[in-house]
Amino acid sequence: MILDGKKVSEARLARLKEEVEASGLTPELATVIVGKDPASQMYVRMKHRACGQVGIRSRGVELPSDSTTEEVREQVDRLNQDQDVSGILVQLPLPPHVDTHRVVETVLPEKDVDGFHPANLGRLFSGNPIFSPCTPRGIMTLLQEYGVEPEGLRAVVIGRSIEVGRPMAALLLNASATVTICHSRTRELPSFTRQADILVAAVGKARFVEPTMVREGAVVIDVGTNQVDGKLCGDVDFDRVREIASAITPVPGGVGPMTIASLMENTFLAARLQSCTGAR
Ligand code: GUN
Repeated sequence: MILDGKKVSEARLARLKEEVEASGLTPELATVIVGKDPASQMYVRMKHRACGQVGIRSRGVELPSDSTTEEVREQVDRLNQDQDVSGILVQLPLPPHVDTHRVVETVLPEKDVDGFHPANLGRLFSGNPIFSPCTPRGIMTLLQEYGVEPEGLRAVVIGRSIEVGRPMAALLLNASATVTICHSRTRELPSFTRQADILVAAVGKARFVEPTMVREGAVVIDVGTNQVDGKLCGDVDFDRVREIASAITPVPGGVGPMTIASLMENTFLAARLQSCTGAR
């Protein structure tokens, strides 16, 4: 079975558009991008396009690549103070001289639609999330839509990033899976991955996950976005692994569109919560 993220995402965006219209709210997403990394620019463009699709206003702030940590924080703080802005997304990665943790901690938790602020990650890890990071949240939605119930299953996540690996493990744990996090220093990685009923690959290496690493009948989720000869290529050797897996996400058209749907849902959630607390 192919887990069609594009189809599920489109259905969710269509539903969200109706919910936004019916709410009478005017959610707005502000993105911040530092520098001119073409991949980051493309992702941000896609996020703005999705906003237009569902009736969420959006604005983009572009800062030069030599911006200091303080300059980025000042910009984020202006958006924190701006009553029109429901959600703030600082596109990662930031240039190496910028302190990512300090910038992420500057975003008000109630506007942190990426779910990267320690307050939101803490809530997620304590089992009581409000904003969950968009990629793992989108993956959970996709599993749910295809009737994959994580409870009691062995889930293995390869990758320990703040964006994907760590929150993915927390969400699977909250859904009562038995979770293992593997990473670049893991010894005998295949001995772990072969145990997985649900295998999430967020490695950043093209076609890293081979059939010998996958258990027959596993559900395989590919978070990879590698460029190979100008084409987008996942972390999983799709053509070979699909023969073994019971379900698998393609790249493109799997996890990517789900990330964007989750971002739109988080932005609408932020607007609704802010309207309840009288902030908007
Ligand atoms: N870079 C890679 N993934 C993400 C994400 O989910 N959010 C942001 N802001 N940057 C990213």
